[in-house]
Amino acid sequence: MILPFLRSSTNLTQIHQIHAQIIINGLLPLHSHLLEKLIDLRYLEYARSVFDQISSPNDYSWNSMIRCYTLNGYPQNSLSLYIKMLRNDVKPSNFTYPSVLKACSSRFAVNEGEQVHCHVVKFGFDLDLYVNNSLIDMYCKCSCVGSAHQVLDEMHYRDEVSWNTLISGYVSVGEVAQAGKLFEEMPMWRNVVCWTTLLNGYGKEGNLVKMLEIFLQMLVSADDVGPNSATMVCLLSACSSFSELKLGRWAAVFIDVNSIPLNAILTTALLDMYSRCGDVEKARKLFDGMSGKNLVSWNAMITGYVQRGFLEEAIGLFNLMRAKLVKPNEITMVNVLSACAGLGTFKLGREVHHYICRNKLDMNVIVATALVDMYSKCGSVNDACLVFVKTANKDVALWNSMISSLAYHGNGKDSLAVLAQMERCGVNPNDITFIGVLSACNHTGLVEEGRLQFSKMVIKHGLSPTIEHYACMADLLGRAGYLEEAFEMVQNMVVPPDSIIWGTLLSACRIHRRVDLADKISEFILSEPHPNLGFCILLSNIYASVGRWKDVARVRKLVKEKGIKKPSGCSWIEVDGVIHRFLVEALTHMESQEIHDTHQSLINQLKIEGYVPNLDFLAKNIDGM
Ligand SMILES: *[C@@H]1O[C@H](CO)[C@@H](O)[C@H](O)[C@H]1NC(C)=O
Ligand SMILES: *[C@@H]1O[C@H](CO)[C@@H](O)[C@H](O)[C@H]1NC(C)=O
Ligand SMILES: *[C@@H]1O[C@H](CO)[C@@H](O)[C@H](O)[C@H]1NC(C)=O
Repeated sequence: MILPFLRSSTNLTQIHQIHAQIIINGLLPLHSHLLEKLIDLRYLEYARSVFDQISSPNDYSWNSMIRCYTLNGYPQNSLSLYIKMLRNDVKPSNFTYPSVLKACSSRFAVNEGEQVHCHVVKFGFDLDLYVNNSLIDMYCKCSCVGSAHQVLDEMHYRDEVSWNTLISGYVSVGEVAQAGKLFEEMPMWRNVVCWTTLLNGYGKEGNLVKMLEIFLQMLVSADDVGPNSATMVCLLSACSSFSELKLGRWAAVFIDVNSIPLNAILTTALLDMYSRCGDVEKARKLFDGMSGKNLVSWNAMITGYVQRGFLEEAIGLFNLMRAKLVKPNEITMVNVLSACAGLGTFKLGREVHHYICRNKLDMNVIVATALVDMYSKCGSVNDACLVFVKTANKDVALWNSMISSLAYHGNGKDSLAVLAQMERCGVNPNDITFIGVLSACNHTGLVEEGRLQFSKMVIKHGLSPTIEHYACMADLLGRAGYLEEAFEMVQNMVVPPDSIIWGTLLSACRIHRRVDLADKISEFILSEPHPNLGFCILLSNIYASVGRWKDVARVRKLVKEKGIKKPSGCSWIEVDGVIHRFLVEALTHMESQEIHDTHQSLINQLKIEGYVPNLDFLAKNIDGM
């Protein structure tokens, strides 16, 4: 009477009534059915309390309870219940071990896993194929692929799961060659999952040649399996990661010709491949034609735009997304904020910030970092500070972002204060922190502090300086007139100096009128295959300033011979939330004539007001060069 009622019940009220009936009528054997029901409905705590009420649960109830803990993400409870089971002298069964081993692997508890392995052998369950496969899986998930391999070697009977598990174990620890070897040894059952696992391994490793080879082998192999959507997703995502547009296009054609089902995941992978390999237009076409767009597809398209520098398009798509009432997540927000930062659109950036707050989107540390970065790049260091202060659980990236934004805005002392606070909080600075710190010292001209931080970074934190660190130091020392020190540092760099660093020193030579050092530096600058035009002009100006006309002529001749050109610049401004882009000397903007006119009238206005542009550092007669 009660049992059918229990079976059909779906809510807690009904179950409470039944539970009461069981107790009142002393129908104790029904407890185990009640337990099953509660496990089904995932009332874990309630289930456990019923389990504890059963005087001597049978092994089936033990196993269900253990399994339920593992499946619902409570591996610790699963393990302690297993131990209790052994203490109560209940004999585990072949159903017990897969759950217990899975619990071990989800906690990466290989020591516990090994103990359980001993129990398996002790109780004789190693004769069970399923238990052995679970052992392989446990060792692989705990990154002990060697032990997993040993289990496979000792097995008398293996199935495709045994092989597949070990192969994907090798792939996940990055031993793809070993996975390939195992794949060759595999007697049969090389199904599409197995082929795809191996192919994915080579793809992740960046070995696209080998990946393609596996793919082609798969097509002609005697295993008689063809690639499915998942295989194509793996192929495409390797193309995306390594910007292999040609191979990606080939895969797209393959999908088309072989009518491989285009589900949302595969379409998104295609879209991602096109946008990350640089064909954003094609990606957008796919996106527009997609029927089941989900958040992942929107994010893939927006991320693609941001990564390829199509920032306006990214913002446009975000606006469309809002209009379509698709709820963004943190990935969307981080990308949109980085587009705002790149464009310097304060108004829009703040709107996005408000949008995040209004819609109660997850304001985690990654989003906070993007906000700090956006506010800083849009010129509002105060807003950046506000976001920073309000964020709990600051991580190193957030600290870094605050330090560099203060540095960037010339608040060098504040930047150093934030560093000190960071160290007090026990967060270890990394190399990016020191780029911020050193540029703070540079922007504020703190020479002594800069030297101190530079050596602290190397000696105390064991970080090796990169070109960016050296650039800050060279600029700092050079501007302050410590040119010998700077020159020596640059010559002893652990990474080869680039032309930017030499150029930095050269500007310092000009400021401090050190033609002797400029001579030495000119060798490095002019010997580059494509010397930087700005530095050549600088050098020629330095020579001109002391009347060394022969050298001026020499530099000019070189510029002509090597055909050095000035790269065209581009900038954006935001007017009423709409972004306008200008390319230097290009009339692509719809209203560019008008804008140029306005610009000209602004300059005229400035002249009337008595503003004289500072042309000291500008090239004297670039055309003549
Ligand atoms: C457990 O063992 C029994 C009998 O040996 C067998 O019938 C059953 O299929 C096994 N179950 C699993 C999950 O391996
Ligand atoms: C399971 O593995 C053990 C060694 O770990 C082996 O002795 C046993 O025969 C294997 N069972 C099967 C079904 O292969
Ligand atoms: C150093 O500071 C000056 C002055 O603020 C700035 O113009 C220059 O770009 C800085 N150099 C570096 C490498 O950051």
